[in-house]
Amino acid sequence: MANMNKIAVLTSGGDSPGMNAAIRAVARTCMFNDKECVGVMRGYEGLIDGDFVTLDRAAVGGIIHRGGTILRTARSDRFKTPEGREQAVAKMREAGIDGLVVIGGDGSFHGAKALHEMGFPTVGIPGTIDNDITGTDETIGFDTAVNTALQAIMKLRDTASSHERLFIVEVMGRNAGFLALEVAVASGAEYAVVPELPLSIGNLCKLLRNSHDEHRSHTLIILAEGVMPASEMRDKLQDTGGYDARVTVLGYIQRGGAPTSFDVVLATRMGAFATEGLLIGKSGVMVGNINHKLVFSDLERAWSEHKSLSPELLSLINKMN
Ligand code: F6P
Repeated sequence: MANMNKIAVLTSGGDSPGMNAAIRAVARTCMFNDKECVGVMRGYEGLIDGDFVTLDRAAVGGIIHRGGTILRTARSDRFKTPEGREQAVAKMREAGIDGLVVIGGDGSFHGAKALHEMGFPTVGIPGTIDNDITGTDETIGFDTAVNTALQAIMKLRDTASSHERLFIVEVMGRNAGFLALEVAVASGAEYAVVPELPLSIGNLCKLLRNSHDEHRSHTLIILAEGVMPASEMRDKLQDTGGYDARVTVLGYIQRGGAPTSFDVVLATRMGAFATEGLLIGKSGVMVGNINHKLVFSDLERAWSEHKSLSPELLSLINKMN
C-alpha cells in the first residue's frame, strides 16, 4: 500500500447542500491523522489544470453550514478523454498528492473509477439532490432539497386552497423520482408522478375526477422533471380532461441554501469515513449510508445497479389520498 501523506478533495457535477460540510470533514480528518489536505478547484477541470488550494484548519472554518461548494464545481468534457485523465494524474503526482476524494453523483463516479483503474487511489462520496445513487440510502443534499421544496409548496398550498385550484409542481431529480416521491409525501400532495411508474394522462384525469372534482378544496400534483415538463402536463390535462391547472417549476432553488442538520451530519460522517478509508488502502469504492451504518461499495454499483423507489412511500401516497 502506497504511503498516504497528502489527500486531495474535489466536488463535481451539480452542487448539493452539504458538500462544504463534506469538504471540511475530509480536511479535518486529514489534520487529525497528521496528513495534508488540498482542495481541487472546479472538479475534474481543476485536476487537469493542477488548480490546487491548501485546505488547512482556517480554510475550512465557517463553511459547515454554507450551501454550494467553496471548491466550485463543473462538468468536464476534457476529463472524458484519455489525455485529460493522464494529465490529471500527472498533475496530482507532481503536487505530491497520494489519494483523492470525489464528491458528486454518478457522472463524477465514472471519473473516479477511471482514476482508480489508472492506479490512483480514489474514493467517492455521493453528493446530489437526486438521491439516484445505488449503494446508499441517502445522498448528501437530498434531505435539504426535499425541505426546500416543502417550504415552497406550503406557500403554494395557501393559494391553491384559497382559489380551489389544481397545481402541478415540477421538482428536479433527473431521470429518477426519489425527490418527487419524498416531497409528495412530506407535503401531503394528492399525486406523485414519477418516471418509475408511468401514469397516462387519461388515468390521471380519471383519478382527478374522483378526487379534485368531488371533494377537494385544492389538488397538488408533484411531477418529477424526468416525466415531462409541467407545462406539457398542464396542456395535456386541459386537452384531455378540461382541467385548468396552474404550474410551478421549482428549479434550481432546490439545489441551494444551507444544508439541514441531517445533511451536515451525513456529510461529516461520510467525509471522515472516506478519508479514513483512503488511509487504510481503500480505492475504487464509494461511501454509502445503509440502514444508518456507513459502508463501502464498488463505485460501479452507483450507475450499474438500479435503485428502487420505496414501495412503502408509494403506497402511502394512495393511502393518504
Ligand atoms: O443532478 C442534479 C440536478 O439538479 C438534476 O436534478 C437536474 O436534472 C440537473 O442537475 C440539472 O443540471 P444542470 O446544472 O447541468 O442544469
